[in-house]
Amino acid sequence: MLSHRAVSTEPAHGRSLSGVNRRAWDTEALPQGEEKVVAVRQMFDAIAPRYDLVNRIMTFRLDVRWRRIAVRSLALPSGSTVLDLASGTGDLCIDLGRAGLRPLSADLSFGMLAADRSGAPRIQADILRLPVPDGAVDGVTCGFALRNLVDLSAFFDELGRVVRPGGRISLLDVGIPHNPLIRFGNDIYFGRIVPRIGAMLSDGAAYRYLPKSVAYLPDRAEMVAMLQRAGFADATHRQLSGGLTQLMVGTRR
Ligand SMILES: C[S@@+](CC[C@H](N)C(=O)[O-])C[C@H]1O[C@@H](n2cnc3c(N)ncnc32)[C@H](O)[C@@H]1O
Repeated sequence: MLSHRAVSTEPAHGRSLSGVNRRAWDTEALPQGEEKVVAVRQMFDAIAPRYDLVNRIMTFRLDVRWRRIAVRSLALPSGSTVLDLASGTGDLCIDLGRAGLRPLSADLSFGMLAADRSGAPRIQADILRLPVPDGAVDGVTCGFALRNLVDLSAFFDELGRVVRPGGRISLLDVGIPHNPLIRFGNDIYFGRIVPRIGAMLSDGAAYRYLPKSVAYLPDRAEMVAMLQRAGFADATHRQLSGGLTQLMVGTRR
């Protein structure tokens, strides 16, 4: 099942795009629950065409480096099957392939899957409910999507279910720098400048959501504890680039 290219045309959760507010992510208060799922999917559908360009510009290409570190940190032997979750346009799948691994991908947004250039087999799915048998994969990567999920603990449990014993996970997301000076600069950059770059090249509201969405993430100690409870007893957390990004890795017991 996993080896076939399978992009479904059904919107996730069976809800039609026309049945909801088209810019559900353009709100002051952060959406919650099912409203958040719909807002996130619509937002990524909208920004998919320019997603890679804006990413490279707003991170000064640091995102490329962060993904490579995430793939290296998996430390899996060549030929291992790795599921890239919330794969977006396929950047991590490209790096996984270059590292000699066999990537498969899943994402909620049809627009992002359609813009995928990796050639990896892909499915449209909510990564909280993966259509994958227990212990089916050697590893999982997930880049910059944790803060978009409605239930992080359920997601970590799902990782514990699909990764085989001895398999590895490597998860990246935006971070909050601990150093007050770096945090101050980071807040101004992502709060004021990035939304302007987004408005010029893509969608300003989507890039206003980005810094706000970090508030959904628990602190690092709590995330590590959640991963340990999900079966990744050796889970660790690391800050990259002064804490602009965070990386969590672990091995399935
Ligand atoms: C910021 S992008 C990251 C894309 C890619 N991983 C990268 O490194 O560039 C976040 C992605 O998460 C996806 N996503 C968010 N919530 C999801 C969910 N519940 N299930 C599957 N994909 C989801 C979005 O559609 C989007 O493609």
